[in-house]
Amino acid sequence: MPSHQDPFPIRGWDHVEFYVGNAKQAAHFYEKVYGFTPVAYQGLQTGCRDRASYVLQQGVIRFVFTSALTPDHEISRHCALHGDGVKVIALEVPDCHAAMTVCKEQGATIVQPYAAMEDGSGTLKSGVVRYAGDTCIKFVERAHYRGPFAPGYQAIHMRGEVHPTGLAAIDHMVTNVYLGEMNYWVDWYRRILGFEQLTHFTDKDISTEYSALMSKVMQNGSGKIKLPINEPAEGKRKSQIDEYLEWYRGPGIQHIAMNTADICKTVRELRKRDIDFLRVPETYYEDLKHRIGKIDEDFDEIRELGILVDRDEDGYLLQIFTAPMQDRPTLFFEVIERHGCRGFGQGNFKALFVALEREQEKRGNL
Ligand code: FE2
Repeated sequence: MPSHQDPFPIRGWDHVEFYVGNAKQAAHFYEKVYGFTPVAYQGLQTGCRDRASYVLQQGVIRFVFTSALTPDHEISRHCALHGDGVKVIALEVPDCHAAMTVCKEQGATIVQPYAAMEDGSGTLKSGVVRYAGDTCIKFVERAHYRGPFAPGYQAIHMRGEVHPTGLAAIDHMVTNVYLGEMNYWVDWYRRILGFEQLTHFTDKDISTEYSALMSKVMQNGSGKIKLPINEPAEGKRKSQIDEYLEWYRGPGIQHIAMNTADICKTVRELRKRDIDFLRVPETYYEDLKHRIGKIDEDFDEIRELGILVDRDEDGYLLQIFTAPMQDRPTLFFEVIERHGCRGFGQGNFKALFVALEREQEKRGNL
C-alpha cells in the first residue's frame, strides 16, 4: 500500500462516459449483450435538446452513452474524428471543490470549472479537466444527491428483464499515448492527482518479433484507481498501440478491465451472446499447469473458453480480452478475476501480442 498522502482523496470510479454515434442503440447493446441495467436518461423527453444520454449500471460499474442531436456539435465532431470511444473518466471524490482547486493550482487544463447543479433530488458537484488527447477526467461529488444519476436525468423504468453477466466493478482503465508522451502523463498524474507509479514494463518485457510497447501503471493512494499508460516502442512493424493511435486519431482509452467473481460463467454467457474474444495460440495451454501451479478453476474449462492465467507473489489472476467494440480497431474490454494477484497479466503479454498481431494482419494494419 502506498504510504504517501493524496492531495485529495478519491472514493472510486464514478462512471465512464462514451461519445457514440447512436446512444439509443449503444444502450440497447450494453443492456442485451453485456447485461447492464438502464437506470437514467436525458434527451428530448427531458427537455434536453442538443444531446441524448443513457446511463446503465451493472454491479458498481456505471456507463453513460451520449450522442449529439444536432450536426455541428462538439459530440458530433468528436465522433466524426475518433469514432465511438471513451470521452470522460469520472472519479467520485468527497470534496469536488478541493479536487478542482488542486487541479487548478497544479496547472491542469480546466474544461469545466467547479459547478454545483441542483434539482429536487439534491445537489451534485462536478468539475472537468483535460487528459490525454480529447479525453477528460471528471470529478463528481454525489454525497448530497439522491437522484438516479445527475440533475436533468430521469429514471428509466424497465419494461423487460435484464440478464446480468456478472461484471461487478472497474479494475483498471488503460490509455494509449504517442511515443515520447508517456512520461509526461506519468508526471501529470503525480503532480495533479498525487498518484504513484506502481509498475513499469519496458519494451524488453513487452515485445514480440515485430512490435513492442512500454507501459507504466499509475495508481492513487488507496489503490482503488489504477490507470496504466502505454506508448509504442520502436519495432520492426506497426505495434497494436500504433494501430490504435492511427484509427482513434490520437491518444485515448484503449481498454477497460472489469472484475467478475466467476470468469468462466461471465465468459460463457458473453460468448453465448456473440461477443468475440481474442484467441491465443493453443500452445499457450500446453504447459500452463506447470507455469501457473494450482488454481481453483478447471484447466480444461479455462482452455476451452480461451481464458489466460498469470501469477505473482500475491496470487493469481484470470483474464480475457474482447475484440474491439466498434469497427475501428480502438476500444476493447478485458474481463478479469483476481485471486490475490495485483498485476496486470505481464506473463501473458507475449502470447497476447502474437494473437493481437494476427488480428492486425487480418485488418491489413501490420
Ligand atoms: Fe488490462
